[in-house]
Amino acid sequence: MKRIAVVPGDGIGPEVTRESVKVLEVLSGQGLPLAWEEFDFNADRYLETGSALPPGGLEFLAEFDAVLVGAFGDPRIPDMAHGRQVLLGLRTGWDLYVNLRPALLLNPKLSPLAHTENAAVDLLIFRENTAGPYANAGGAVRMGTSEEVAVQESIETRGGVERLVRYAFQSCRKSGRSPLTLVDKHNAMRFTGDLWFRTFRETARDFPQVETEHFFVDAFCMELVRSPGRFRAVVTDNLFGDIASDVAAAMAGGPGMAPSVNLNPETGRAVFEPVHGSAPDIAGRGLSNPMASILSTGLMLEHLGFSREAGLVRDAVKWCLLEGKATRDAGGNLGTAGTGDCICERLLAEY
Ligand code: NAD
Ligand code: IPM
Ligand code: MN
Repeated sequence: MKRIAVVPGDGIGPEVTRESVKVLEVLSGQGLPLAWEEFDFNADRYLETGSALPPGGLEFLAEFDAVLVGAFGDPRIPDMAHGRQVLLGLRTGWDLYVNLRPALLLNPKLSPLAHTENAAVDLLIFRENTAGPYANAGGAVRMGTSEEVAVQESIETRGGVERLVRYAFQSCRKSGRSPLTLVDKHNAMRFTGDLWFRTFRETARDFPQVETEHFFVDAFCMELVRSPGRFRAVVTDNLFGDIASDVAAAMAGGPGMAPSVNLNPETGRAVFEPVHGSAPDIAGRGLSNPMASILSTGLMLEHLGFSREAGLVRDAVKWCLLEGKATRDAGGNLGTAGTGDCICERLLAEY
């Protein structure tokens, strides 16, 4: 039995996660050995108790084979303290240094480049997930005065960069993806940028099968918008990866389409979540697209060893999308639950 901890979170998190749980219900109904439990590690809990996680929460979650997260973010907690506690707590606490964010355009009509020859997107973003400015080294003095000083250090280490870069090269070699593009800013970031650039160049020597190229992040974003199909795999730091993965999502059908996994390849610990946030602007109205969450569930099934089911989930999402059985952002007129139902029906029919 594979045990999954489900943490729906805030805003549209619970709405889209409910549809992922329906997918798990379909599969377990067909005999797949899956069990799941839901946990309210969210904004409400934070506001009620002062903490989004109970004491020992990370150790408790580590007992599960995988964690499926919805999204965090609540206007009542403007500094996102609770989201950082759970989400960044999991990423750094479990050392989930690989944030793999695939961008794949499943329906060409959804591309902003649909009228051109450049619409296709099939890209893997390998985002460093524990360091850079997210290491949260820094501080502020004279807060609230006109002399306030704030420092947010960007921390990078050779070991931290190299393990992610090496993982990206290994994945590319295994899947035959090429080239692997390094995205950095070593023209301006003299120390950290240079560390990324040298580490990439030196690690590349161990992977002659994988071609390499380099882009500065500004030019990369421009090219990603003009011609996303020219990229196959990208390795980059935490902040650039955060930004680039939203741009890639936009090119691959929008925020409702982009899945992700936060992974430690050595321990096998993994947290699956859509790339998008809690979307307070549409929360509670049944408008949110559950596909990013369901595709993340597909990545989770793959990780748990259920490759066939993972493929069927992806195919069911694609089928509904191409049939126009989708939410409005994805070209349909269904609601969140209707879209999830369509995916589940198709999955069951093909199982
Ligand atoms: P967002 O991703 O929540 O929303 C950006 C835009 O995309 C909004 O217009 C939203 O309506 C739309 N959108 C997002 N997901 C969608 C879906 N599934 N279907 C249809 N439309 C969708 O980003 P934001 O507005 O900058 O942030 C809102 C909150 O979420 C903030 O508190 C932010 O910190 C948080 N956030 C959390 C995560 C996470 O939990 N991993 C990721 C990003 C942002
Ligand atoms: C994401 C989010 C998070 C990040 C926020 C909510 C801390 O934007 O998962 O992409 O910056 O990593
Ligand atoms: Mn983000």
